[in-house]
Formats: sequence, C-alpha cells, structure tokens
Amino acid sequence: MPLKLPTEEKSAVAPAQQVTAEQKKASEEAAVKEEKITLEEEKIYRRGVVDIRDLIAPAAFEVKPSFLILGDTYVRTLFVLNYPRYISVGWFTPVVNLSKTLDVSMFFYPVKSDVILKQLKKRVGNLQAQLMSDVEKGAPRDPILETALRDIEDLRDNLTQGIERFFQFALYVTIYSKTMEELEELTSEIESMFGGKLIYTKKVLYQAEQGFTSTLPVGIDDLMVSFNMNTSPVASSFPFISSELTSDEGILFGINRHNNSLILFDRFSLQNANYVVFATSGAGKSYTVKLEVLRSMMLGTDVIIIDPEREYTQLSEAVGGTYINISLASKEKINPFDLPRSIGDASAEDIIRSAVITLKGLLKLMLGKLTVEEDSVLDRALLETYASKDITAEADLAKVEAPIMKDLQNVVEGMEGAGNIALRLKKYTEGTFAGLFNQPTNVDMKNQLVIFSVRDLEDELRPIAIYTIVNYIWNVVRSVRKRRILVIDEAWWLMTSEDSAKFIYALVKRCRKYYLGVTTITQDVNDFLNSPYGKAIVTNSALQLLLKQSTAAIDNIQKVFMLTEGEKYLLLEGGVGEGIFFAGRKHAAIKVVASYSEDQLITTDPKQLLEIEAAKREFEEELVEKTDTQETKAEAAPAEEPAEAEVEAPQEATEKETEPAATPEASTAEEKAAAAPETVPETATAPEPETAPKVQGVETEPEPAKPDQPPTAATKGKVEEMKI
Ligand SMILES: Nc1ncnc2c1ncn2[C@@H]1O[C@H](COP(=O)(O)OP(=O)(O)OP(=O)(O)O)[C@@H](O)[C@H]1O
Ligand SMILES: [Mg+2]
Repeated sequence: MPLKLPTEEKSAVAPAQQVTAEQKKASEEAAVKEEKITLEEEKIYRRGVVDIRDLIAPAAFEVKPSFLILGDTYVRTLFVLNYPRYISVGWFTPVVNLSKTLDVSMFFYPVKSDVILKQLKKRVGNLQAQLMSDVEKGAPRDPILETALRDIEDLRDNLTQGIERFFQFALYVTIYSKTMEELEELTSEIESMFGGKLIYTKKVLYQAEQGFTSTLPVGIDDLMVSFNMNTSPVASSFPFISSELTSDEGILFGINRHNNSLILFDRFSLQNANYVVFATSGAGKSYTVKLEVLRSMMLGTDVIIIDPEREYTQLSEAVGGTYINISLASKEKINPFDLPRSIGDASAEDIIRSAVITLKGLLKLMLGKLTVEEDSVLDRALLETYASKDITAEADLAKVEAPIMKDLQNVVEGMEGAGNIALRLKKYTEGTFAGLFNQPTNVDMKNQLVIFSVRDLEDELRPIAIYTIVNYIWNVVRSVRKRRILVIDEAWWLMTSEDSAKFIYALVKRCRKYYLGVTTITQDVNDFLNSPYGKAIVTNSALQLLLKQSTAAIDNIQKVFMLTEGEKYLLLEGGVGEGIFFAGRKHAAIKVVASYSEDQLITTDPKQLLEIEAAKREFEEELVEKTDTQETKAEAAPAEEPAEAEVEAPQEATEKETEPAATPEASTAEEKAAAAPETVPETATAPEPETAPKVQGVETEPEPAKPDQPPTAATKGKVEEMKI
C-alpha cells in the first residue's frame, strides 16, 4: 500500500537512527576521554619543561609589611596622598628622569561632572554661610575661606561649561634596589623630591604586594589611593616634557626622535651662541654643520669655516662663497702681525699688547718651548718690530702698515741673547716654510661665506696655520659687529698643543660680545675632553650635539654630559645623523634630516660626489653646445661693468666661486680647457634666461642677501646640482 509505505519506512529508519545517535555519543565520549588523556600527558610533559616564565621569574617572593623581596631584589611602592594648591607643569619630570630603576603607574578615573557639581554646590553653601556669619559677627575677613570659595566657583563654572572635566588620579612609584640600605636611601630621595614640590607621599604598609601589582604593566589598581583633580592639574603630571626642545624662531636642527616634533633654535638667542659637535668619524658631523650653515645663511648670518679636509668646496661653489686655500704654494697669505682695524674704544696700546700676546702664542707653536729669558727677549723683540713700522702707543692704527715675519727676524738678529730664536725663526722666513707667514695679508673676507682650507699644509704646520687664521678672523670679527658663525672642523688639531687650545678657549669665552658663535667639531672626543681647555669649551657652549660615539669614548662622554644608561646606548647604536642634542639644560634625541637639494650640496659620500661630478660635466658640455649655437646673439650683448671683480689676487680656487661675471678676459683666464675662449662671453650672458627660474627653486640658496650679484660660476654650480 502506497500510504503505508512511509510509516513502514519510518519505523524501519528509527532504530537505525537510534543506533547512530548512541554510537555518536559513545564516540564523542571516547574522544573526550582521549583528549583528557592527551592533555594529562601534555601536562606531565610540560611540568618537566622549562619555559620563558620559569627563566625570568624570581626564585622566591617574600612579602614584608612595607616592602617585598623579589628574588634578591628589594621592592617598595610609594603612593601620592596629597597635592599642593599650585602645581607646576612638569613637576613629575625629575622623578622620571632619575637615573634609577623605577616603575610608575598612573590611574585616571573619570568622575561624572554632575556628581562633582552637586558636592561642590554643598561646599559653596557651607563656605558662604561661614562667610556670612563672619560678617554678621563683625569678625575680620578670612582669606583662606575666600580663596576656597573663589576656586570652587571657578571650577563649577569650568565644569558646567565643559572646559574642565573631573578625575580621580592615582600615582604610584615602585622602586627597586639590591640592598635594604639602598632601598631606604632611595625611598627618602624620592620622598624628598616629591616633598620639594609640596607633594605628600607615603610608603605602602601591609599592602606591599598590592603596591607591586599596581605598578605592573597590566592596568590593575589594587591600591586605590586616588586624589580628586580637574583636567589642568592632571595634565601637568604628564612626565615627558623634557623632550620638547624648540623655540619660536631660528633654524631647523633636526627632528626630535621622542615625539617627531621639530627642533628649532636660534643659537643667538641662547646665553651664548657656541656649539660643539662630537662623534666618531663618518657619523655625520660635517654634514650636520653644513646643513646648519646653509640654513643660517638664509637668515643672513655670515659664516666663516676652517676646513682641514677640503670638503666644503661644493658648498662654497653652491652659495657663491670665497674659498681660500692656505698652503706653502698658494698665493693667499695671512700676516700674523695684522692688527684689528678698529675695535670700539680700545686704545692703540691695548691693541698692540694683545697682538703681542697672541703672537707670542703663535711663536711658541712655531719655535717650540721657550726659556724664561727667551720669552722676555721675544716680548721685547715683538714690541720693537711693531715700533720699527711706527706702530706705538701713540700711532693711529688706521694708517699703519703691519710688519711681517722678516722684520721680526731682523730685530731678533740684532738682539743679544736671541741667537737661538733667530736660528729657529729662519725656517719660517727663509727656509722651507717661508711661503706661509712672511707676507702681507691679501685675503678678502667680504663675503657671506668664507672658507679657509688647510688641507694642503703639512701636518706640523696645520695648528700654526689654524691659529693664524683664527686670529685673523678674530681681528675681522672685532672690527665690525655682525651676526657670525665660525666653524672649526676637526678642532682636535688645536687641542694637540696647549697654546692653541688656550687660544680657542679664550675665543669661545669672549666671542659672545662680538655677536660670534663658534662651532667646534671634533672626532677625537677623549683628547678633547681630557684637555682642561677642551672641557671648558664644552661648558661654554650652549648648544651641544653628540652623534654616534665609539665605545672607547662613551664612558668619558657619559660623565661629562651626565647621560643615563639609555642615552649611552642610544649613542653607541645610533645611525648616521642620529644622536642627542643639548640646548642649555634641556636635551633630546635628534635625527638630522636634509632635503634632497640640501643633500646634493653637502654630501661627502664619494659615490654620490662622483655622480654629481659626472652630471655637472654633462651639463657643462650641453651648455657649451648651446652657447655655440647662440654665439651671434651673445656677441651683440656687451659685457657690463668689467672692473667689478673684488677678489684681488686671482687664484684658481677663489675665482671659481667669487668671480662675479667679470670681463671676458678675466673669465678666459680662469676657464678650464673645457670652455673654449670664444664661448666665454656667452657663458657670462647665456645662462641667465635658463638658469634664473631654476636658481629660485633652490631652497637652500642665500642669494637674496646679495641680489645685485650677476650670475656667477657659483650659481651655475647650483643649477647643475638642481638638474641632477
Ligand atoms: N643626516 C644625514 N642624512 C643622510 N646622510 C648623512 C647624514 N649625515 C651624514 N650623512 C652621510 O654620511 C657620510 C659621513 O658624513 P660626514 O662627512 O658628515 O661625517 P663626519 O662625521 O664629518 O666624518 P669625519 O670625521 O670623517 O669628517 C657622508 O657620506 C654623508 O653624506
Ligand atoms: Mg667631517
């Protein structure tokens, strides 16, 4: 029967279903059992395995009333109980910056404003009643009550308007130490730090364990000791304000690595404008300083650089600086006997005296140690040398001509007891080194950027030359007061002898009054810091930059700059251009960054330099081709102002940068073989139309300071770099 069939089928299926359900249950149970066994086995296995928690956990944990003993470390928690009425921003910073192991936890419990407002209303009622009864009684006014009322009313306004919110704030500090005595000492140190801000703290008692767990990074507050606070004081407890390092004006030194903010400073707004840069070789010292030079020039600051490695040429070319090469063979000379042109109200006598002292320092460097007799003979000889040129206390120094080394030689030769000096001096007037300091000065410093190179000098002459150059610069600086920066790269050369170290120290100490900031760069940190003068230079520099340090120097650095362990490792492991920047008493981790165009101007990476050179050559060739085609047009254009060249002694290095599109003849003399003589007039005129817009695109370029300067070889350099 067709109708029956389904029921039959159903009944036929039902027992089968029952069987499968039972089977399923049984198999499930079996699986659970099996899993239990596996878990049990795993548990047994795990018990015998050491995992990371076993390794880091202390062997024992002993809870005492006011502290814990965690393995062999003593642990104590302090909590803040009460705050003063006024609290300054950053009050918590000294505790956080304490160079000790500590855990800090802060809990903020928001409280609904209406709850607080209700309470405050009650308090206002009480206070007002009290005040009124005082008035009725004729009692004198009570400022405490009045202040409290005013505070509460302000708070009520702010809470109602939503300007402020209300919190319960809990602050716990857990300290760790190796011995009980140390723990007590540290406790009182931290208590007095808080106490100094009128913040009242207590040690946990019978809650040591809760204190410890409350400062673990798990967000559990087992202590629950909180204080009512509104938003502003709560915000003032934010501890990391020391990393903010910026002022409203100045140039960008780098990026603050704590919070990615910018480190902006005008070094002339600090107590002095000196700057020291310490790092190992290749850490980016010169790069950082070049960047600062470029950016300072945009603000109109004059820059003078002493470059012992000839690595500032490119920068000089780019911004149209004067590059002066001081060497035995070069035409540029500096006469150490020069006197400053006019320095305020100083009398001729003072000027001569200070010149004699400086010269004596130089001569000691040149001649080696002098005996007492020789010293006094030399003193007299120097005065006589000046006198031989009519330079005396009565002379008008504006009209005199300074003597040279040969004049001193003549004087010394005629003096009794000076035979030895005369002999030793001969090397510098007639001997091998005669080319260096025996002629009148012929260098020109009338440029925003002036660079003195001493690379081509023998090592033994280098400190002497730097001394002379610095003295010359010092004379110029004192003559005209102007915002200036003097950069001494590889300054450890000067620290090798006491006389030159003393000289630089005196300069660093006095330069502030003449609007000069001295930047001292050195890679030989230990030598620099071990010299008393070096250390004094550091303390007289408001700006300090430490980049990557060697392990040999780091301990000394840590001591002198009072670095924490963390900062020490930051310096050991930092990358190129990364370090710590100090401005006054604040410091922050810095990363020095340059824009693409800046990087092209200041890099010392040989690979990059080769690429730039190649691109420059290519550009020059292109230019020559173009000028050839435009020859007829250019010939019609007259070369204007042929006598404008300021540089007196034409010399390869300087001409390249300063030659302000002079006469075709002058250009012809200096142009290298690449540019054929007939193309010269064009190079003076042709680049103008195409270079002008590009030059403006160079963001680092200080050209606006000298808008009247025609396109120079230097601007050409810039354009080339932009093109790359
Ligand atoms: N902030 C930076 N960003 C990118 N490159 C950098 C940075 N600082 C330096 N460099 C690169 O690192 C290299 C070394 O830099 P730099 O010449 O300034 O080193 P240095 O500390 O002056 O070394 P030395 O003591 O040998 O003169 C250069 O190739 C430079 O281009
Ligand atoms: Mg360098």
